[in-house]
Amino acid sequence: MSNRLPVDRIVADDGSEGWKVSPGGLVTALEPVMRSSDGAWVGWAGQPDLELDPFDYDGMRLVPVQLSKRDVEQYYEGFSNDTIWPLYHDVIAPPTYHRVWWDRYVAVNRRFADAVLDIVEADGTVWVQDYQLQLVPQMLREARPDLTIGFFNHIPFPPYGIFAQLPWRKEILEGLLGADVIGFQRQSDASGFARAVRHILGHVTTPTIEVPVADDDAAATGRSKKGRTVRRVLAKAFPISIDAEQYAEMARRPDIQARAKQIRQELGNPTTIMLGVDRLDYTKGIRHRIKAFGELIADGALEVGEVTLVQVASPSRERVETYRQLRDEIELSVGRLNGDHGTMEHAPINYLHHGYPREEMVALYLAADVMLVTALRDGMNLVAKEYVASRNDERGVLVLSEFAGAADELKQALLINPHDIVGLKRAIVHAAGMEPREQQRRMRALRKRVLEHDVARWSSSFLTALAATRHPEQVPA
Ligand code: G6P
Repeated sequence: MSNRLPVDRIVADDGSEGWKVSPGGLVTALEPVMRSSDGAWVGWAGQPDLELDPFDYDGMRLVPVQLSKRDVEQYYEGFSNDTIWPLYHDVIAPPTYHRVWWDRYVAVNRRFADAVLDIVEADGTVWVQDYQLQLVPQMLREARPDLTIGFFNHIPFPPYGIFAQLPWRKEILEGLLGADVIGFQRQSDASGFARAVRHILGHVTTPTIEVPVADDDAAATGRSKKGRTVRRVLAKAFPISIDAEQYAEMARRPDIQARAKQIRQELGNPTTIMLGVDRLDYTKGIRHRIKAFGELIADGALEVGEVTLVQVASPSRERVETYRQLRDEIELSVGRLNGDHGTMEHAPINYLHHGYPREEMVALYLAADVMLVTALRDGMNLVAKEYVASRNDERGVLVLSEFAGAADELKQALLINPHDIVGLKRAIVHAAGMEPREQQRRMRALRKRVLEHDVARWSSSFLTALAATRHPEQVPA
């Protein structure tokens, strides 16, 4: 279960209805996992007040949860995306704390939990996804101790000093601890969580978290050193990935390769195409990227016409004020840069405020000589992995922020600190001029990592760890 289903219901102006793929890394990663499973996916269909029965879509069983306009405002835009999202992303934007938002978050989490309780079988497994549903594990545990419950946090978990700001920190930790296994992207996220649990709840956290329970609790899994009955919870890093082979395969398709050539031509056949692909979000460091690129153009280190930056910024959370402001700021800086340095033939930045189908994205990855991922904070960043998986030709350079989870694995990228504009400019120049042999050496190593550690491996390692906590005797050695 996740806040979003993999598809959003769309209603056009003429009243006709259809589906579109939901935005973001969570859906990208989970879709192939769910396609190969016989489970059901419980979530929201992306529109307020939409009453839908469960339905099948492209080989998946989808079970919609209905959200009202108020739910969307207070649970989704409010508490999830204006409280938790900024708090968990290093307070890049200030989090807002409203008690009515919290109350709504509790109520909507309860509704998601109930939707699962309606359909889950005895001794079933429920895998709860992401920060919008942090209270669901405990709600399920209380109602049904027979269930095996996993939770995966797709975004960072903040350091204790930041998490401690949250007025409802205790409730959130208790909510999460209803799970048997809590997965994080990075080891540092898992340690931040364990530290918060120690300081705020006082539980023992090594090697597993010991949650005290009543002696007759059916979910009890052991005894603490002091002889208390406990439930043991595993909190650990399981770095997420993509269906890498699917990207590699798409990149071999002649029509997609032809489209990549066409994109280069449409851009005026520049020597170097740089690419940024992000949801339009303040965590992604789009402004830092444009600043560094703009200074290089102004310095004359990069020449307009020879180098072009394509920035795909897909619309996201457009009713949240910080996102509106960000859009204004980015569009102002793009306009200014193009106005100052553009010519009749060439604009330094090709800015696209749209989402694109996967095929078009792969064509763009193939057309791009340099991929810029400059996130200020990011749970993983799957775009970095998509670029690498698409480059069967072992060409192209990935510039990657050390503040994205992907940096733990993709060590042969040009790793940068996006706050250090001088260092970022240096990396961009290095990337633009990199010899094919160095490109190949780096890309080969990156591809090995991404192709071996794909999303199927991620889900099976999580689910194996989950099965082991509840039924250790059934897990093969
Ligand atoms: C990130 C989050 C997901 C979320 C996605 C898109 O990837 O981890 O939970 O679904 O962004 O954001 P949205 O608010 O449109 O669902």
